[in-house]
Amino acid sequence: MRFLCVNCGYIYDESLWEQDDGIDAWTGIDEISEDVHCPSCDGSFDDFSPIEDEVLYAENPKHMNHLEKEHVPNIVYQDSERVEVQIGEEMHPVSDDNRITSIYLVDDEGHIVEEIFIMEEEDPVAEFDISGLDIFEIRASCSRHGLWSTGLIEAE
Ligand SMILES: [Fe+2]
Repeated sequence: MRFLCVNCGYIYDESLWEQDDGIDAWTGIDEISEDVHCPSCDGSFDDFSPIEDEVLYAENPKHMNHLEKEHVPNIVYQDSERVEVQIGEEMHPVSDDNRITSIYLVDDEGHIVEEIFIMEEEDPVAEFDISGLDIFEIRASCSRHGLWSTGLIEAE
C-alpha cells in the first residue's frame, strides 16, 4: 500500500525494496517507530493516509489488449484451499522502472486479506491460502501501470 503525508504530499510506499529515508525496506506503516518522521516535512507518520488507487480490470477478458495481458492477474492453479497466480497471462516484465511490486488477496468487500511483496528482479508470482473465503479477488500493483484486478472469483 502507498500512503500520503497529508502535510506535505510525500508518498510512502510499503512495497519499495530500497527505502532511502532511514526506514528499512518493506516496513509496514504501522511498524514504523514513533522516532521516525516524514523524510520530507518531519511530520508524524500518524498523519499519513492510505492512497486508494483506481482498480483496473480487463475490459473484455476474452480479448485482452497487450497491456491487459501483462497486468491482469492470471490464475495458474486453484483448489478449495489455495490459489497460485502469475501476473499476467504474458508474464509481466521485470525492470527497474516497470515491475510488479505487490500482489494482493482481496475479499468480496475489497479488503486486503494478504499482501505479498515482490522483490526486485523476482518474477511476479504468488500463492495464497484462500480457505475460508467464498469469493475473492487477486490484485497486482505495477510501479508504472497502476493497480490491476481479476475481478471477483468464486472459490471452489
Ligand atoms: Fe507494468
